Amino acid sequence: MTANDGAAVHRRSSHTIPSIRNHKVRDGSAPLVMLTAYDAPTARLAHEAGVDMLLVGDSVGTALLGYDSTVPVTLDDIIHHARAVRRGAPTAHVVADLPFMTYQASEAQAIANAGRLLQEAGADAVKLEGGRTMAARIRALTEAGIPVVGHIGLTPQTAGALGGMRVQGRDLDGALDLLADARAVAEAGAYALVVEVVPAVLGGIITSEIAIPTIGIGAGPDCDGQVLVWTDLAGLTAKPPAEAISPRFARQYLPLNDLLEEAFASFARDVREGAYPLPEHTYSMKEEIAATLRARLEAGRDA
Ligand code: KIV
Repeated sequence: MTANDGAAVHRRSSHTIPSIRNHKVRDGSAPLVMLTAYDAPTARLAHEAGVDMLLVGDSVGTALLGYDSTVPVTLDDIIHHARAVRRGAPTAHVVADLPFMTYQASEAQAIANAGRLLQEAGADAVKLEGGRTMAARIRALTEAGIPVVGHIGLTPQTAGALGGMRVQGRDLDGALDLLADARAVAEAGAYALVVEVVPAVLGGIITSEIAIPTIGIGAGPDCDGQVLVWTDLAGLTAKPPAEAISPRFARQYLPLNDLLEEAFASFARDVREGAYPLPEHTYSMKEEIAATLRARLEAGRDA
């Protein structure tokens, strides 16, 4: 493969922080496409498929690491996965999550940890959860030169306090609160806002009320973009399917659980039945060397 082939494989991201900040569907832009990625091959594939933004989400905890929530995910976990994503998609627009308790304690803590995601992991931006209560953090980060994506609605890191993984903003007070949160996050300097699991009409109202793009997940079709967790999209669950939670918004494009299980079972069957490896899976040795080797072993046995 030549250097030019490589350049063709990796589409250069046409997205910068300012271009995303101005990306509103009402101005005629196509919706932004964001997908989670946690490793090099999926990052490469998503980028090559034309996904606009890759999110190294703390959903890695539930999607791949086998946790029941995102709370146990650490900053080092995100750095580890974000580095792999960056290696797989060197020119993609990569956003990395600040995990639970890596930004809540103080502005200094938030800046130091977000800085690590940019410097050590190669992320373009960080994402943090929270509305008005996090406005000061978002302002401090952006003033320190760290681009921030906000996240309101169902915020998984604090889902317990919200009464579980449930739709947010269904009543008037809740809807007005979320609108105030969205405005506060935008005014604090975030360049995009993830809106998770709110009624579709509220997703549309928030989108029309703020200047930065909304990226919806279970927030209806009127957002400026959509994000999904790649394992949801591909039908891959850490728990057995019967125990896995599949949210209503998670359209499944692939039965990956079934496909992988079939492949793993086929491999096991082939090994047990002698159908693997076949000659095409093995390496040869010159016959004279093999003969000499056998002869020496025989001679050793006779001695
Ligand atoms: O962690 C994550 O993947 C997220 C998305 C669900 C938006 O925050």
